[in-house]
Amino acid sequence: MLSYQHEYHAGNFADVHKHLLLWLVLDSLLARPKPFVAIDLFAGSGQYRLDQGMAARSGEWHQGIGRLWSLGRGPAALRAWLGAVRELQPDPPRLTVYPGSPELIRRRLREQDRLIACELHPAAYAALRAGLHGDRRCHVHRRDAREAARGLFPPEPRRGIALLDPAYERPAEYTEVVRMTAEIRRRWNTGTLLVWYPVLEDGRHPQLREALRAAHLGERILFSELRLTDPPRGSGLQGSGIAVVGAPWQLDTHARRVLSAAWRCLDPEGRGGLFQALALENARGRPHLVRVETPDPHDPEDVKDHD
Ligand SMILES: C[S@@+](CC[C@H](N)C(=O)[O-])C[C@H]1O[C@@H](n2cnc3c(N)ncnc32)[C@H](O)[C@@H]1O
Repeated sequence: MLSYQHEYHAGNFADVHKHLLLWLVLDSLLARPKPFVAIDLFAGSGQYRLDQGMAARSGEWHQGIGRLWSLGRGPAALRAWLGAVRELQPDPPRLTVYPGSPELIRRRLREQDRLIACELHPAAYAALRAGLHGDRRCHVHRRDAREAARGLFPPEPRRGIALLDPAYERPAEYTEVVRMTAEIRRRWNTGTLLVWYPVLEDGRHPQLREALRAAHLGERILFSELRLTDPPRGSGLQGSGIAVVGAPWQLDTHARRVLSAAWRCLDPEGRGGLFQALALENARGRPHLVRVETPDPHDPEDVKDHD
């Protein structure tokens, strides 16, 4: 079943959350000259019009990129990501186009780096292929991500990131994404895996978080969840969740700074929240949560730690 169309949700708060963490992981890969590969397993169509079609009808982006668009200050990584979105606009300063994950990655590749993007939906695949056409660093596959999780790993070069961003249309996708993450990790323990999950009213996300935590995925899993006071109506989406498996050194510190600043714009009423936890494997190989942080909405500079 491929009825999901990301156009509807493009640029919403969950996209912003995911793309900022993706940006930070890319920052750490770009800090060294060695080549890296980015494997986008559920790539979508690459670029989205916000002023027409489904995105214009849903208007979800107004509570996402729309709330950050005129931001002049903030952490460097947040401003750099906004700069990349600005570069894409055909009619600046009007915001009419939003870059999805493969386009964002493509814009950061150096000559020595590669992008492999998988997409199954025929229309999304065609759009993605057209958008990346002619860039020799990019490879687009019309391929099932579940099969690619076995076939594409371990990649060459060994440094890199894999993005798992399923649509969660079917309940089975919750278990499939954990299985795929574990399979990839078994074959590729030098890469970073970024797994997006929805925070829904039905409260299924704690089980997903726990399943990832218990799957022996190795050291350092960063969990980040962002909620809005007024999430878009209709989808049941209360918040956006991300697990970063094999999180680069200091990602937790950078994510806390960048996402706290973003969350303050995304959730001006301040009754949503930002949750962050770092799970480490202890000496017996049993993962445990070591740090949970939530910014205090009354003191934006303050981030409290709870055990
Ligand atoms: C949430 S969207 C991706 C958004 C994109 N990662 C971004 O951040 O811009 C999920 C995409 O996965 C595609 N998809 C769904 N099932 C798939 C599968 N088994 N293999 C590959 N792609 C799939 C959908 O067509 C959809 O375009």
